[in-house]
Amino acid sequence: MKPLIIANWKSNPDSFSKAKELFSQIPKKENVIICPPNIYFSLGGNVNLGSQNCFFQSGAFTGEISPEMLKSLKINYVILGHSERRNYFEETNELISKKVKACLKENLKIILCVGEKKGESLSSVLKKQLSSFQKGVFAVAYEPVWAIGTGQACKSEEAEKALKLIKKKVNCKVLYGGSVNGSNFKDYLKVGFDGVLVGGASLKIKEFKKML
Ligand code: 13P
Repeated sequence: MKPLIIANWKSNPDSFSKAKELFSQIPKKENVIICPPNIYFSLGGNVNLGSQNCFFQSGAFTGEISPEMLKSLKINYVILGHSERRNYFEETNELISKKVKACLKENLKIILCVGEKKGESLSSVLKKQLSSFQKGVFAVAYEPVWAIGTGQACKSEEAEKALKLIKKKVNCKVLYGGSVNGSNFKDYLKVGFDGVLVGGASLKIKEFKKML
């Protein structure tokens, strides 16, 4: 099985034309999934697409996107519980659990993000955050918050400890995310991760292509 490479563009790039240009350089590969801002989905052509978030139902929820909507557009993947959602938008484990349940109902492939902040106990954070896990979740992404967007990736030996703890608790693919780049991504595969969740480096096409 080829390692999964999932790109989380976050709220980038800042224009439709830049998104078009970026997509035009990404080859379709079965193990590569691009999660752009939803407003750019139509540019994805035939690459595998994922959403960076979604709400748990359709209806009077201004600004939200539902699992049914994603399903109807053949967006098969969805990231839930990203630390930026938890920290900037105050998403709780309870809310994330509802989202997980609703996305499973639509057979979306969920990438559930977990990870500790600096100084927090890894095992107790994993215990709390993995309470949102349900059978059928496609992958758990271990993303230590302090390693995200800082250029200070978690050493693969350290990340391996988290991998083992996660594998003890749940049965699904496990990815690493946090300052992954074209040089260090292989280290995470070597210690047993099933793939990587890439932020900043997925916007730099040269860097991203090294991984592909
Ligand atoms: P960076 O690769 O920019 O550190 O972001 C990681 C991330 O948050 C992916 O979801």
